[in-house]
Amino acid sequence: MNIHGTPWRTIGLEEGGEAVWVIDQTLLPHRFETRSLRCLDDAAEAIATMVVRGAPLIGVTGAYGLMLALQRDPSTASLQAAFERLNATRPTAVNLRWALERVRDRVAPLPEAERAAAAGAEAAAIAEEDVAMCSAIGDHGLAIFRQIAAARPAERQGEPLRVLTHCNAGWLATVDWGTALAPVYKAHRAGLPLHVWVDETRPRNQGASLTAFELAQEGVPHTVIVDNAGGHLMQHGQVDLVIVGTDRTTRRGDVCNKIGTYLKALAARDNGIPFYVALPFSTIDWSLDDGVAEIPIEARSEREVTHIQGWLSPEQGAAAAPGAGDGAGSGSVGGASEEAARLVTVQLTPSGSSGFNPGFDVTPARLVSGLITERGMAPASEAGLRGLYGG
Ligand code: MRU
Repeated sequence: MNIHGTPWRTIGLEEGGEAVWVIDQTLLPHRFETRSLRCLDDAAEAIATMVVRGAPLIGVTGAYGLMLALQRDPSTASLQAAFERLNATRPTAVNLRWALERVRDRVAPLPEAERAAAAGAEAAAIAEEDVAMCSAIGDHGLAIFRQIAAARPAERQGEPLRVLTHCNAGWLATVDWGTALAPVYKAHRAGLPLHVWVDETRPRNQGASLTAFELAQEGVPHTVIVDNAGGHLMQHGQVDLVIVGTDRTTRRGDVCNKIGTYLKALAARDNGIPFYVALPFSTIDWSLDDGVAEIPIEARSEREVTHIQGWLSPEQGAAAAPGAGDGAGSGSVGGASEEAARLVTVQLTPSGSSGFNPGFDVTPARLVSGLITERGMAPASEAGLRGLYGG
């Protein structure tokens, strides 16, 4: 997808193959920078600190992380230690474990001298497959968007299709295209008029920061709303469909996604609005049945609730730069330059108030209108998933 008109992916091998570049998503939408991952520590830190995030992209980064570890030490002990280290970085997205297992199983039987190269090749294959799967999800989703658009009353034909999404399940969350946003991009490029309601997605604001950035770069009409506005918009006929991604989907079709997704599914059901979930097969955890009971939910720092990150105006940033006095930013001001000083974190809550920050919630299969996969749409049920994937 495009950034300032230039096609980008979210991750790739640097020349020479000894490092991996990623887009630093903690700085978006305000600054666009790439970062080099040169060793296992870099890869693990990038995942843990959300430099990279989104279930499929976490998986690909983990796969490359094993390559980086094996470049320094190709022993079996090193492989296992790197596997465990990376797998512990984010516990909910099952794509991470899936990708790590795939690379480990590929390289473990090989002589040590061949392991790093084989891990790199496998990581690259996972990345390419992710692009193809997301593109196919986009095609299948586009067909559904067209059906919903065509089924609208005569007086609404030709108006933009109104899509609501939560968090960021766009190309920044994958290698390219995205999952939930792939049909949006395919529809936009095919000339189907649409408008996207973007949930801001507190506490980290992946919607306001990342989804809005992506849509703006692609020229897709969109409006950012606070997380609590979606139900109101649905009651007033302003939403034609909801589409989200998932970090883990159980075999019966329960979906675990960014905290707040469940509330959108409830509101959609109450208002008779279809609620779709887009996913590649790497997001399915066939070992789990009841998502609410069985999926581990990442507990994140309360600081993400009690504080918020934002971008100062150039004047405020200059005033906040080191050596310029206290300045406008009362929060932590990082970096030496004025530019770096513009990205600040400020406190929202009274000092002493605690915060609680579960990263994800589970939407039961009964609230899901359909699972849009690279193989087509399935009902959110074990029979539906087995119908697509067999077994
Ligand atoms: O915490 P994040 O930003 O990694 O959460 C991302 C999401 O919840 C996405 O919806 C999910 O990973 C699906 S991405 C295609």
